[in-house]
Amino acid sequence: MGSTDDAATGATPPTSGRLQLRVREVIRETADAASVVFEAPDGGFNYRPGQFITVGAHLADGLAPRCYSLSSAPGHDPHPAITVKRVDGGRVSNWLVDNAAPGMSVDVIAPTGAFTPRDWTHDFVVVAAGSGITPAMSIIKTALMTHDNAVTLIYANRDEQSVIFSDTLATLQETYPSRFVVQHWLESERGLPTAAGIGSLIAAIDDAAAYLCGPTPFMDVAHEALEAAGLPTGRIHRELFYSLTTNPFAAAAATTPAAPVSPGRPAESGARVTVEIEGETHEVEWPRDAILLDVLLDNGIEAPYVCREGNCGGCEFILTEGEVEMRVNDTLDDFDLRRGARLACQSVPVTDTVAISYDS
Ligand SMILES: Cc1cc2nc3c(=O)[nH]c(=O)nc-3n(C[C@H](O)[C@H](O)[C@H](O)COP(=O)(O)OP(=O)(O)OC[C@H]3O[C@@H](n4cnc5c(N)ncnc54)[C@H](O)[C@@H]3O)c2cc1C
Ligand code: FES
Repeated sequence: MGSTDDAATGATPPTSGRLQLRVREVIRETADAASVVFEAPDGGFNYRPGQFITVGAHLADGLAPRCYSLSSAPGHDPHPAITVKRVDGGRVSNWLVDNAAPGMSVDVIAPTGAFTPRDWTHDFVVVAAGSGITPAMSIIKTALMTHDNAVTLIYANRDEQSVIFSDTLATLQETYPSRFVVQHWLESERGLPTAAGIGSLIAAIDDAAAYLCGPTPFMDVAHEALEAAGLPTGRIHRELFYSLTTNPFAAAAATTPAAPVSPGRPAESGARVTVEIEGETHEVEWPRDAILLDVLLDNGIEAPYVCREGNCGGCEFILTEGEVEMRVNDTLDDFDLRRGARLACQSVPVTDTVAISYDS
């Protein structure tokens, strides 16, 4: 089955920085969801299945940035796409569903995020609710079309009319009958999903990796069901949708030093960090009480970020030497931490020398 190398997805190196994407097509998926398909920019548009872009919506009262997962699959779909579901009273989701049209240009921050398989040697259990299908769709298509994994999808929706991608899922089932199982959970028929109910839909779990996307209570019951079925927590990955409260399109804010992590350690004993980014190596001083992302931006190094709150994984780097401490980590799981992933927007140094890479 599959490989540990995701280069086959056309995903390395990822596109970086800010760019403008031109809308090619808008597909009405359900009454309240639409896919916005973009022209692939000159020079390509690289991303990993499960990653998201940040859209800067220019609304009448200013710029509103929001994250949207790519529902297209790299290496398979020629044009990158996001799928947006209306949120009651939501500013950007409704604006996009109502106004996105072919020819329109959209400001975007390049794909990022840690909700992406790094290892395609396992089978997958994907558990999604509502618009949580978007990153799941990219992962499922890649697992089926680029690799040869078996995938079980458990997909919860209010009712049959609200199922996004129902035709695509049915076609994939017909095309891959021995490798793709879809279990729909319709609240109109079965009520809210429960751990026991989800557990009853999980068949083979041996050696699988699970990807969960939906509201927190939904992911909690899915997690419980997967653990009860014998899947270790380290194999269960989650993506939570929320609206950004910071503006990653604004110029880097003035840095605010964090409180010292180790009060006993003299502040003057700064660390040094060696940074590999976009094929270049930089070495900079890293004050003990400073957040790595701030230090890098202050030194003119264009490190990626989105939320600056430890939620999105958009500032992920790989630690290659030394150790850091993260103040908040709401996105990297045990597997990510073991492969050396850390969040620049939350890291302070622990060791005197640290080496990191954005290119790994
Ligand atoms: C990594 C990631 C990936 C994502 N991928 C997707 C995706 O693929 N598809 C998708 O549809 N969404 C996705 N999201 C969610 C998306 O970013 C937005 O959060 C979503 O579209 C809602 O944004 P909005 O501007 O429409 O709503 P907001 O305007 O942000 O409002 C959200 C809710 O808060 C309420 N609200 C807003 N302001 C107030 C206030 N002042 N007081 C009280 N209540 C208030 C609104 O009524 C609404 O119910 C993703 C989020 C993340 C973090
Ligand atoms: S920028 Fe979102 S976790 Fe760091």
